Amino acid sequence: MKNYNDYINYSKKIYDIHMSMSVLNWDMETHMPNNGNKFRAQQLSTLAKIAYELETNFKYGKLLERLLKDKTLNKDQKRNISLSNKQFIKKQKYSAEFIQKQSTLISKAFKDWRTAKEKNDFNLFRKSLSEIVNLRKEESYLLGFNENPYDALLDIYEPNLTVNDVDSIFDNVKDYLVPFINKINNSNHIDDSFFYQYYDQKKQWDFGIDLLKQMGYNFDSGRQDISAHPFSTHFSPEDARITTRIDENNLSDMIWSCIHEGGHALYEQGVLSENYGTPLGNSISLGIHESQSRLWENHVGRSLAYWKHNFNKLQTYFPNKLKNVNYKMFYHACNNIKSSLIRTNADELTYHLHVLIRYEIEKELIEGNTNVDDLPSKWNKLYKKYLNIDVPSDSLGVLQDIHWSHGSFGYFPTYTIGSFYAAQFYAQASKEITNIDIKMESGDTNELLAWLRKKIHIHGQRYDAKDLCKMITGEELNFKYFMNYAKDKYSKIYNLK
Ligand code: CO
Repeated sequence: MKNYNDYINYSKKIYDIHMSMSVLNWDMETHMPNNGNKFRAQQLSTLAKIAYELETNFKYGKLLERLLKDKTLNKDQKRNISLSNKQFIKKQKYSAEFIQKQSTLISKAFKDWRTAKEKNDFNLFRKSLSEIVNLRKEESYLLGFNENPYDALLDIYEPNLTVNDVDSIFDNVKDYLVPFINKINNSNHIDDSFFYQYYDQKKQWDFGIDLLKQMGYNFDSGRQDISAHPFSTHFSPEDARITTRIDENNLSDMIWSCIHEGGHALYEQGVLSENYGTPLGNSISLGIHESQSRLWENHVGRSLAYWKHNFNKLQTYFPNKLKNVNYKMFYHACNNIKSSLIRTNADELTYHLHVLIRYEIEKELIEGNTNVDDLPSKWNKLYKKYLNIDVPSDSLGVLQDIHWSHGSFGYFPTYTIGSFYAAQFYAQASKEITNIDIKMESGDTNELLAWLRKKIHIHGQRYDAKDLCKMITGEELNFKYFMNYAKDKYSKIYNLK
């Protein structure tokens, strides 16, 4: 391996393996029969080993080192090399022993979590979780950090994000969003009961497909399937897939999961094919990814203009169920703000309090200021404090999310960061696209998609998230955009002074 071309070919090889693993994972969640599991786990583990060997290959490291000094490379080429080198150095820090320990621990923890949740018994998960926490602490020291061990974990999902950043964001949430939510809770009640009737599965599916097509999701470069938990995945920009879940007794589940996952997939379909297999052909971070899904889900998919256009169509699918509903009632119902137990069902405002609670707990666990044994009581106290809600059981409380059983610590904050990026990007798009609301009322989101493509999607990892945000909006991530959006929208919905 000598030159930049060799690097490109090698990098593509690594990427091909990861994308193949994604295909196997997608299949596992959608179509694989029960008994497929045993060998599938083995197949994935074999591919993971091959990828790891390629990623940490000594000669590859030497090549990157040489190319780092190559003055003939252009800006984009330099960016690729610099990011691949960063990745190489990171991977080098993990011993084969650590990787092995991690994979054994995670499969055990996942099983324990599932049983514990089923039986509503936190004790069954306690030991595994405590081992996972220790493993992540070990990892933070292995990767290194400046101030807080949790920084090292945040950096895995959102490069360069620190505890300082997240603390200041959640300080704003506590100071401004929490009182605003309280104000809403003390005002009138919205009736959203029409969502919870019987809605035929096939018709729901068809309506979801209509919405995806309207967004500009390309079904020649993707498809939708059913899975237990909606997700999006991609194998290339030419094949970016999504899944949804249909609850016949709750219409809202399908609608906003389609739009959300569709938003993720539009990002992947918008990355340039010619950059496949290199950092420039990759999305930036989980936060920026989530900004795309949330922008479509909330700023588009929960707006008055959007439902002014789409409600009639929905009504033609369910004329009897929705005969006494109009688009304004529908708009109000899909923006019902109400404290609830389960994060994944939360509205777009209280959602961030769910994330705040997990963030506070995770940070303390990794810093060593909280013990796993105290989690259920800690969890319940925080739900009372921030959401004023009593948690009836650990299954509906501390055991509700899968993330910790997968060892994902440092992941939750990206959900909130993503939403706040979405608000900031959308505010900017509204400035640059004339009459964006009027266009939306006629079902036209083409210009918005083109804007997102040009400003975000086509760049892949050309810029860090923080720099990208500054380039697009003129400033770093700023909470005020989300708060302004929330105040403007919900003061009208709830008639607040
Ligand atoms: Co998402």
